[in-house]
Amino acid sequence: MVEAHRIEGYAIVSTDGMIADAGGTMPDAIRNDADQRFLQAELDRAAVVVHGRHSHEGGPRAPRRKRLILTRHVPSLSSDPAQPNSLLWNPAGATLDAALARLDAADGIIAVIGGTDVFALFLPLYDAFHLTRAAHARIPGGRPVFPQVGPHKTPEDVLTGLGLKPGPRCDLDAAAGISLTTWKREEAPTATAS
Ligand SMILES: NC(=O)c1ccc[n+]([C@@H]2O[C@H](COP(=O)([O-])OP(=O)(O)OC[C@H]3O[C@@H](n4cnc5c(N)ncnc54)[C@H](OP(=O)(O)O)[C@@H]3O)[C@@H](O)[C@H]2O)c1
Repeated sequence: MVEAHRIEGYAIVSTDGMIADAGGTMPDAIRNDADQRFLQAELDRAAVVVHGRHSHEGGPRAPRRKRLILTRHVPSLSSDPAQPNSLLWNPAGATLDAALARLDAADGIIAVIGGTDVFALFLPLYDAFHLTRAAHARIPGGRPVFPQVGPHKTPEDVLTGLGLKPGPRCDLDAAAGISLTTWKREEAPTATAS
């Protein structure tokens, strides 16, 4: 069933590759309206949004989106009557396929929006990763977008190591130093008849 989906990640990071401060709060320095507009439009076209229990994209359209919320507080899968489009998911007790089937997810994009451990869980699976950079923000001691990111390894190093290739950099908000690069897995060349 996962084969019917594309797995795409979305993150905005500081110059040092962080998605939040040490306490798990996302500082204003990496919040940006243009990036939010981009993210919200992307999530509108996704089949499923996936995130950890402390993350959420917010916004008025969020309740309409099908979502998997990762938590170890359930053994496998559990619905939440207060959030009919959401499913609590513990990957230790249920596969992604099982979660997608229980959610009755349409084919399409599985949008992974963090945090660190959730981005890490999907590392071998990304078809694309949309990495926004906030050039004027530093978050020393913060939470990295991927566990491997630190003084000697950038998010770009990790994406390169996964075999993803960067597309052109797009300025979402040049005055604020906010730019987006989409990294994609190269398509295997299709065989042509001779
Ligand atoms: N800049 C960005 O692009 C970006 C992206 C995402 C998040 N953030 C920010 O980062 C902060 C939160 O980061 P975070 O890393 O603490 O949050 P998180 O991943 O949203 O939540 C962590 C929780 O998710 C559950 N979880 C994570 N991995 C799991 C796994 N493999 N199996 C089962 N459950 C799992 C656990 O929940 P239980 O405790 O219930 O077991 C864990 O405590 C927030 O401020 C958020 O806004 C920023």
